[in-house]
Amino acid sequence: MTIVIKGGTVVTADLTFRADVLVDGDTIAAVGPDLVGDEVIDASGAYVMPGGIDPHTHLEMPFMGTFSSDDFDTGTAAALAGGTTMVVDFCLPAPNESLIDALQAWHQKAGKARTDYSFHMAITWWGEKVFDEMPLVVERGINTFKHFMAYKGALMVNDDEMFASFSRCAEIGAMPLVHAENGDVVAFLQQKLLAEGNNGPEAHAYSRPPEVEGEATNRAIMIADQAGVPLYVVHVSCEQSHEAIRRARQKGMRVYGEPLIQHLTLDEREYFNADWDYAARRVMSPPFRDKANQDSLWAGLASGSLQVVATDHCAFTTQQKRFGVGDFTKIPNGTGGLEDRLAMLWTRGVRTGRLTMNEFVAATSTNIAKILNIYPRKGAILPGADADLVILDPAATKTISAATQKSAIDYNVFEGMEVTGLPVVTLSRGRIAYQNGEIRSETGTGRFVERPAGPPVAKALSTWKELTAPRRIERSGIPAGV
Ligand code: URP
Ligand code: ZN
Ligand code: ZN
Ligand code: ZN
Repeated sequence: MTIVIKGGTVVTADLTFRADVLVDGDTIAAVGPDLVGDEVIDASGAYVMPGGIDPHTHLEMPFMGTFSSDDFDTGTAAALAGGTTMVVDFCLPAPNESLIDALQAWHQKAGKARTDYSFHMAITWWGEKVFDEMPLVVERGINTFKHFMAYKGALMVNDDEMFASFSRCAEIGAMPLVHAENGDVVAFLQQKLLAEGNNGPEAHAYSRPPEVEGEATNRAIMIADQAGVPLYVVHVSCEQSHEAIRRARQKGMRVYGEPLIQHLTLDEREYFNADWDYAARRVMSPPFRDKANQDSLWAGLASGSLQVVATDHCAFTTQQKRFGVGDFTKIPNGTGGLEDRLAMLWTRGVRTGRLTMNEFVAATSTNIAKILNIYPRKGAILPGADADLVILDPAATKTISAATQKSAIDYNVFEGMEVTGLPVVTLSRGRIAYQNGEIRSETGTGRFVERPAGPPVAKALSTWKELTAPRRIERSGIPAGV
């Protein structure tokens, strides 16, 4: 059984051309003119692109006394409806828990997935057991380790732990990720604001100013450089953080930055809404910023200093958000976006001329496939690549509404926004998984994607670090000491 996508324009990270795409089983069999298959999908007038990869989701995440409400079933249904064919979630070991045990628990949860998936392993505590298990995690197909510099008393790790973990990553060909916010300063500001009677959702934003993100980003970059390892900074929300990344990249450091579609399109005024629920639904970390920061993030995507647009999809219902009535520090942090990332980025990015179509593909799929060392199996339209594809109709339009979304929560942070350029068909490993507004893939059809250690950039960096390491000067005539 083969499928041919006919009459469309193929758009990849570097090329745009008219071609049919032939899918045979799980993979792409051919790309070219006049291809023939058993089943035909008409893509005339539309773009055929690599399926979106969202490298930052929290499905059924245990967090702040509850679990995020989209699990691997509803979350990946939302992903498919939004043209995303792979998610990378975060495995979070409990304090003192074995990384391998935690991984097993996450594999269990992900059994419901409708898209392919992978995990980042979070370093939530530090000790010899973690050090010993990190290579075992890599053997199990995970080459990235996440570090939270915020959430003091919960997920946060300190600088010495981070340096030890980053150094271990360098040894085993893995890459660290950071949530960069100064957790000590945030904890202080939270208590100060509460003591002053500032307990509403707007205080969440005041407790996490851009400076705490810029400082932490710079600190993580410096620690990664000393450890000799590339670094990936998640949810870059502001100029302060972007500036640190830009500066490091210009010095030759291997640092990647990931803005979210939320920070590109929503700003801090959301927290000033008089409706408590409205504002609390938008509480996430880092918070939405002064609008001026958006220009910086868009410019970063255009110029290459930022590479990936993600969602950090972490969906809590209004009921869950109300845990924080009277105390903003108890509002579960997180927002959704999986279903809207591509349409929003197309509408606000490609249609405005901030991004080319090829840059759009790079930011939603190809760049992260390369960074995570799964390219060209994912992120490419090439014979042999997984047939993870999205057909985007640039003329299709809709108004975003919670009433019609696949996500399990009762609101949408993009509610009422009009988007033009919609994913209309999504193929997941060769199967039509979304078409005509309907999810067609079954729960449990997604597969774990193994990601090998030692991507080219890590190898290049370790070669360079070795070459430029301090070396003892051998001298002949050493004078006698006094
Ligand atoms: O507020 C957020 N971002 N929630 C999810 C956890 C995280 O920090 O990424
Ligand atoms: Zn198969
Ligand atoms: Zn985070
Ligand atoms: Zn996150």
